[in-house]
Amino acid sequence: MRSAVDNPFNPGSDVVPRVWAGRTAQLVDWRAVLRPRLVHGLPERGRTILGEPGLGKSALVRRIAAEAAEAGDWVTPQIRVPSGSDPLKLVARALLVLAQDAGLASQRERRLADLLGRVESVAASGVSLSLRESTGPEPHVVLSELLVEIGQAAMARKVACLVHVDEVQNITDERALSQLLIALGDAMTHRTSFRAPGGVHIEQSLPIAVYLTGLPEFEDRAGAQKGATFARRFATTVLQAIDDDDLVLALQDFVIPGWEVPDEQGGLTAVRMTQDAVAVLVDLCRGEPFLFQLAGQQAWYAGEEAVITADQVRAGWRTAQREAAAHVERIIGRLPPRERELVEAMAQLPPADRTLTRIAERAGFPSASAAGPTSQRLDTVRGIIDRGKPYSFRHRAVEAFLTSDWPAVG
Ligand SMILES: Nc1ncnc2c1ncn2[C@@H]1O[C@H](COP(=O)(O)OP(=O)(O)OP(=O)(O)O)[C@@H](O)[C@H]1O
Ligand SMILES: [Mg+2]
Repeated sequence: MRSAVDNPFNPGSDVVPRVWAGRTAQLVDWRAVLRPRLVHGLPERGRTILGEPGLGKSALVRRIAAEAAEAGDWVTPQIRVPSGSDPLKLVARALLVLAQDAGLASQRERRLADLLGRVESVAASGVSLSLRESTGPEPHVVLSELLVEIGQAAMARKVACLVHVDEVQNITDERALSQLLIALGDAMTHRTSFRAPGGVHIEQSLPIAVYLTGLPEFEDRAGAQKGATFARRFATTVLQAIDDDDLVLALQDFVIPGWEVPDEQGGLTAVRMTQDAVAVLVDLCRGEPFLFQLAGQQAWYAGEEAVITADQVRAGWRTAQREAAAHVERIIGRLPPRERELVEAMAQLPPADRTLTRIAERAGFPSASAAGPTSQRLDTVRGIIDRGKPYSFRHRAVEAFLTSDWPAVG
């Protein structure tokens, strides 16, 4: 009945999960703001989506890209930047594929053939191209020229094109980062002008959507280095835990009408979840998408019957408990020492006493103001705490881990 093949939960990364929860604001931003504005020739900034590991950054943009492709838009595959690699090469390669889709590669125009040739050199040599061939234009100029061509072709077809660069925190080379941001930014802000009927002169932006996703550290690098330019060209969102209401809603399909799976006779049957099971699962995963998938996957495996019970959710969670703990330990372990000390000090205080003064004192800062920048980073850059009155945790799994025996279940 509940076979591995039919298990709809998947805690693996880089797939669009079948059991999807929340992220409505970001999906609506694409559907109701970004895409419509772009295809109408209106300017829009790129989107940077950052967040702690496992919050669903890649999944979110992959889902948006899948929707876009469905609507006929041209999308690059998810361009993942491995640590220390040259992003210009990767983006150049992806744009060449997009150019192919756009039919640019088959056009016999000399100018286009030359341009594609130059982009191929960037795909081969990346940022170092500018060093070797000092006579030609910089790689970023070449990339943005091609992106403009693709944008113009997309505009003529009334579709958008979407570029997704993932794991941007891995771009450690400053020159490569700056060239990449300029290449994408220049294409996004490029204006084409033409004469509309009646001789009116019209200027339009190109329908180019750029999504950058990665860990929060990227913000420091891009923000500090590019200053206002980066902020003017990209709108940044820091993802937070998913609301419990959204998780409950996502599991509603299992309550009514049930999740369809094939039965042994070649027909269909349904796997259900009791409402108690839903409540327990949502409580255990603390808004973490990764833990949501993990808990769901293990609950599915915890029995064979048509109904997933609360006890099975707990039994499944026990098998995943170590992994859940490791997930949160990784998040805490990644924090620079001062940030970690602050978070730990905050967890040790009773919720009502979590003022900056008390936290700073406990964490060994000389004064409250000395802890200011650290607490600000934990709030605005990482989204782990909320500097309200008093301070509280936004990252509920980190809170649970530090203040209770979670992930243990009774
Ligand atoms: N909106 C969502 N609803 C349900 N599950 C989700 C959602 N978003 C992500 N997930 C699941 O959470 C897990 C982590 O997602 P993803 O790999 O996208 O995170 P990430 O933020 O890119 O992590 P990393 O920083 O490690 O790259 C995946 O198993 C994914 O299927
Ligand atoms: Mg990711």
